[in-house]
Amino acid sequence: MYKVVTKRFLNEAKTICLFEIEAPLVAKHAQAGQFVIFRLDEQGERVPVSVAGWDREKGTVTVMVQAAGRTTRMLHTVEQGDYITDFVGPLGKATEIEGLKKVCVVGGGVGCAIAYPIAKVMHEAGVEVTFIGGFRSADIVILKEELAAVSDKLIMCTDDGTYGEKGFTTQYLKQEIDANIAEGKPQFDRVIAIGPDIMMKFLADVTRPYGIKTIISLDPIMVDGTGMCGGCRVIVGGETKFACVDGPDFDAHEVDFDSLLKRAAFYKDEQDEAAKHICNMTGGKRNG
Ligand SMILES: Cc1cc2nc3c(=O)[nH]c(=O)nc-3n(C[C@H](O)[C@H](O)[C@H](O)COP(=O)(O)OP(=O)(O)OC[C@H]3O[C@@H](n4cnc5c(N)ncnc54)[C@H](O)[C@@H]3O)c2cc1C
Ligand code: FES
Repeated sequence: MYKVVTKRFLNEAKTICLFEIEAPLVAKHAQAGQFVIFRLDEQGERVPVSVAGWDREKGTVTVMVQAAGRTTRMLHTVEQGDYITDFVGPLGKATEIEGLKKVCVVGGGVGCAIAYPIAKVMHEAGVEVTFIGGFRSADIVILKEELAAVSDKLIMCTDDGTYGEKGFTTQYLKQEIDANIAEGKPQFDRVIAIGPDIMMKFLADVTRPYGIKTIISLDPIMVDGTGMCGGCRVIVGGETKFACVDGPDFDAHEVDFDSLLKRAAFYKDEQDEAAKHICNMTGGKRNG
């Protein structure tokens, strides 16, 4: 059993919640870009979430979770001091940072929670970090101070302009790339983007003509997280890869976004039904 030592909502709308979990073995090895799979109880489904931070001395791992459906909504009702049944990891490959000098990290919505530890590790390693964070509106913005602390330049934008700049991450990424060219500054040697599939697809289109290597973190449906079930398969460079063991980071210019988007839509009806069930039966509470 794994104890929840801290629980804190990260935005006004309470859509994303931070959990610090006591898990010394995971904390010992966790790196930015990796993920864990948790289960709330014996009957619970296995849910992958990224490692958002760790404290090796305390033996804790932080995750930041958006209430997306049945299990994540139930997780939001777990309180500080409660226990969850499983917390397995770290899984997947860590994000590569070797040899990088100047990067642009882009997060969309809860993707900022996953992008944050990557930006932090790079900043600590002396890499120049521009961070672009995009949200739909002000009430769901997260990690304002944390992102500012790990970025040489921070651009926050919202679709409706209620916080930061108005508009999408794609337009600010293009603006920054063009400014590097116009001002004769070194270009980004990598763009790292994490967010909705559709955002990552359009960001890949922005960087492609400039030839800037672009890495995205994929979050397809995962079941076992060990490369056995094939649930998380994605096509990259014409080959089938398993996001749980070969990723979750992949070269955005090689990812087949059409098949990715089709597979993501496949389970939508069942997930919507499951989410309705927990709301109607329990009002979002566990074991209700
Ligand atoms: C490697 C990885 C890292 C992730 N990191 C985070 C994170 O840090 N924070 C966060 O809030 N979310 C993260 N996710 C997404 C998270 O796993 C889903 O939101 C969660 O599984 C939803 O489960 P649910 O029962 O609440 O909702 P459901 O109603 O079951 O699903 C809601 C949506 O979540 C996705 N989803 C459902 N089941 C899975 C599954 N087994 N694997 C992957 N996606 C699923 C689907 O897109 C679905 O439409 C990550 C996913 C992956 C694969
Ligand atoms: S989750 Fe089963 S192969 Fe990746």
